[in-house]
Amino acid sequence: MTINVASGSTDISNLDFAIPLDDDSARLLFRDAHTVQAFSDEPVQDAAIAAAWDLMKWGPTALNSLPLRLLLVRSPEARQRLAPHLAEMNRAKTLAAPLTLVAAADPQFHKHLGTLAPHMADAATTWEPMVDVRHSMATASGWIQVGYLIVALRAVGLHVGPMSGFDAAGVDQEFFGDSGWKSLLVLNVGQPAETENATRPRAARLDFNQVSTSL
Ligand SMILES: Cc1cc2nc3c(=O)[nH]c(=O)nc-3n(C[C@H](O)[C@H](O)[C@H](O)COP(=O)(O)O)c2cc1C
Repeated sequence: MTINVASGSTDISNLDFAIPLDDDSARLLFRDAHTVQAFSDEPVQDAAIAAAWDLMKWGPTALNSLPLRLLLVRSPEARQRLAPHLAEMNRAKTLAAPLTLVAAADPQFHKHLGTLAPHMADAATTWEPMVDVRHSMATASGWIQVGYLIVALRAVGLHVGPMSGFDAAGVDQEFFGDSGWKSLLVLNVGQPAETENATRPRAARLDFNQVSTSL
């Protein structure tokens, strides 16, 4: 099946090859997917987040390290611990969301490399002393996985409100003191409220020709 592609200045309306993604999925994952500001009360089960993980875990990461870790903030007590670390503009909507995720990078990812990177001999031992490199690798692949996470949450029927407006050092101290995880992004998750302010008006996107150069 081919999908309807909106044409920019590079004409992609008459492709001479078929895109395997069907139109409904393209809309669900990308075209109609909208950042949500206000969520309904409908609860989000842990199983839905696990289902998203079960998709996104296949996305590629450096060394197959999968450094992303998730904290599910659900209880009123946990929300109250998170709230002071959020930017003012993100606080009320986060307290009102059915579930909030803190996506974090684990610099200790190398402890799993024996399983995740069997092609590398003694990977866990080799990477142990490379602390700075592990931190930057965890951050880079962690962010890549954040992108997969947003798309995977949409794939399982959830809507997402990602936020970088928070005090990462404060969140790390509050929640990740023992584990050493480094928070990357806070994401509200659920279904949109049936109100006009559930999403902001859709803003323009850059066209392919504005972001690419062919040599
Ligand atoms: C990494 C990242 C950080 C963001 N930080 C915030 C934030 O702190 N507060 C906020 O209200 N929205 C935040 N957003 C939401 C973006 O503004 C929104 O996703 C973008 O404008 C696209 O909106 P749309 O999906 O409705 O088209 C963030 C999004 C991303 C991906």
